[in-house]
Amino acid sequence: MWDASGREYLDLIAGISVCNVGHRHPRVVEAIRRQADAYLHLLVYGELVQSPQVQYAQLLTQQLPDTLNSVYFTNSGTEATEGAMKLAKRVTGRPNILAFQNSYHGSTQGALSVMGDEYWRNAYRPLLPGIDHAAYNSPEALELITEQTACVIAETIQAEAGVNCPDIEWLHALRRRCTEKGALLVLDEIQCGFGRNGTLWAFEQFDVVPDVLLLGKALGGGMPLGAFIASRELMWKLTENPVLGHITTFGGHPVCCAAGKAAFEVLLEGELVIQVPAKEQLFRELLVHPQIKAVHARGLMIAVEFESFDFNKKVIDTCIANGVLTDWFLFASHCLRIAPPLMITEAEIRQACRAIVDAAEKCSD
Ligand SMILES: Cc1ncc(COP(=O)(O)O)c(C=O)c1O
Repeated sequence: MWDASGREYLDLIAGISVCNVGHRHPRVVEAIRRQADAYLHLLVYGELVQSPQVQYAQLLTQQLPDTLNSVYFTNSGTEATEGAMKLAKRVTGRPNILAFQNSYHGSTQGALSVMGDEYWRNAYRPLLPGIDHAAYNSPEALELITEQTACVIAETIQAEAGVNCPDIEWLHALRRRCTEKGALLVLDEIQCGFGRNGTLWAFEQFDVVPDVLLLGKALGGGMPLGAFIASRELMWKLTENPVLGHITTFGGHPVCCAAGKAAFEVLLEGELVIQVPAKEQLFRELLVHPQIKAVHARGLMIAVEFESFDFNKKVIDTCIANGVLTDWFLFASHCLRIAPPLMITEAEIRQACRAIVDAAEKCSD
């Protein structure tokens, strides 16, 4: 990245996990050009079949388990959350939702209601009723899922908590409990999807399949796009009683779908995803300094833990002053964020880690 004065920055955050294939990938730019030449907005879903939407949905579902075979495109991640919550209520006829502490699913009022932190929610009450927040990865959470629960919504790997991975046994138990009680399991991979954790989808690493998958961020290849994905059987409920159960004017914009599909093809055809674990390992090896208390990472979603926000902020500011762009996490403000484009090279990883370690040293004085 370059600033207005032409100064160069190494981008360690990729627009918060958006630019997984980098900025302005030539295939993405070309797809945008081609679609802009063909047509922009035509009409809302259902009135006309639009090829960019259908082609991208088809490619996505080819890469997903059989039950995730119906894609509803939105403009953003938070709208994907809203759509999933509505779908769960419509399918189950139930009022309640279970969400988790330190989770982030978006900023609109429904998504804010399931956000896992009272500080961020409180100024906007009244919010949605019927929502419980449990500790992520806790056995007690399972008990809160009852015959009144429409859905459980969780990030497969919690991002803004400072990269918090669940135990595989817990996620299995959550899946089982949802099935037993007839609640939908909604997994939010808006931040952790698209190869960031070393597999195309994070849920693959835990051997669970959600009833509804939320996508966003990297989904659009740098253009605004979100999606909630479920089985056609579930999704069909949104078409009856009322007939237009969920409507969007711009959701699945043809240019965004064309861009997203091109970016997804880059991911599928190249080596970017399989190289992620080795890159994570290199970051881990190089991020060593007495001020670094821990490195929480799954693939190229990394939280470097310092002892306080104040210290972290000084390190971040020093990194930026030295041409390395990073920031902190919403619920882990003492952690420095590393979520670079997946094509970051070994030399760039070394440069980034040197900048962070040097900054930690300088800020210790
Ligand atoms: C895990 C997660 N879910 C949902 C969202 C909301 O997406 P958007 O900002 O596109 O509304 C975000 C955004 O940061 C996110 O990280």
